Amino acid sequence: MKPLNRVVSNMPRSGIREIMDLAWSTPGLIHLEVGEPNFSTPEHILNAARQAAVDGYTKYTPNAGIPEVREALASKVTSRNGLTADAENIVVTVGAINAIAQAVMAVCDPGEALLIPDPGWPNYEMVATVAGALPVRYPLLPAAGFMPDLEALDTLANTAKAIIVNTPANPTGAVFDRNTLAELLAIAERHDLWVISDECYEDIIFDGPHVPAASISSQERVISVFSMSKSYAMTGWRVGYAVAPYEVAAMMAKLTEALTSCVTGIAQKAAQAAIEGSQACVEDMRNAYRRRRNIAADKLGAAGLLVNRPQGAFYVMADVSSLGRSGYDVCRWLVSEHGVATAPGETFGPNGAGLIRLSLAADDVQVSTGVDRVVAALR
Ligand SMILES: Cc1ncc(COP(=O)(O)O)c(C=O)c1O
Repeated sequence: MKPLNRVVSNMPRSGIREIMDLAWSTPGLIHLEVGEPNFSTPEHILNAARQAAVDGYTKYTPNAGIPEVREALASKVTSRNGLTADAENIVVTVGAINAIAQAVMAVCDPGEALLIPDPGWPNYEMVATVAGALPVRYPLLPAAGFMPDLEALDTLANTAKAIIVNTPANPTGAVFDRNTLAELLAIAERHDLWVISDECYEDIIFDGPHVPAASISSQERVISVFSMSKSYAMTGWRVGYAVAPYEVAAMMAKLTEALTSCVTGIAQKAAQAAIEGSQACVEDMRNAYRRRRNIAADKLGAAGLLVNRPQGAFYVMADVSSLGRSGYDVCRWLVSEHGVATAPGETFGPNGAGLIRLSLAADDVQVSTGVDRVVAALR
């Protein structure tokens, strides 16, 4: 047989999946390895989907999305995110992941460098690899609450085409303050980089408002990416969207035709209902995540294992470097000997070494017991 595609064969697998596979075959575990909200999609969103099915939203839609859904998203980013956008700037995508992938494909030619955060969500490296771009990591500094090392970034930006920025961040829970974000954007401006701003955790932020990159810089070089997955507990519906300059939005819609045709019409109408309906469910979930952040950060802090107190998203990093073992080893050991599944820091990049990530998307009791097990194991 002729060999299969080399790029995909060589693409690293997410380390989270490896632990998940191990964890599923181990009974009685506490699962803190995945970022899947434990909440159900709110009832008014389900009702909108039922109605959409009855109303015939069961066919192909335009590539960039149903016109009234794009209108609704444009008014949302204008009124809530402080962006300037009309429907032509919006591309509805199969989750934020597809918006990111299509944004990378739209701006990077093969071999061009794409700056990705270290530590950062593993899928950025996968997307860069599949798109033929060259992933280059820029450091986030654990000692500085995982803010970007702007000096290092300035040097790396010299030869790059684009940068992915993620705030609130997975896996660190860091939220870039306005000044840091402004300096990062000034570097992008100076080196003429496209900025792909992953804001899928925009609503899970504990102190103060979310600052979208495009709200404090020229929107002409920023592609903002949002998602329904985390804000509305809609991970399985697969709806995200990008806000991009007209020319980029048109390129991304062209890529939608090649890759997915469109997002399921019923899911798009559900997303519209989520955006236009009461936001009380978002507030309720945010409060639950804040409560769990407090439980986990307080316990890890008391045990001397906390790296930074997360300000957003639903993850917390624990320092397991005292064990002198790889994160993968530590995670396998926590599963087999201590009944808790977590994610190895290295899967997020070399700067994740010596750390593990705990998800706060499980319920309060699970989070509390899971953190207790990690602390007991490390004692
Ligand atoms: C940083 C980050 N971006 C994007 C996504 C993907 O979101 P979606 O479900 O909308 O594809 C995730 C999911 O975990 C994430 O952590």
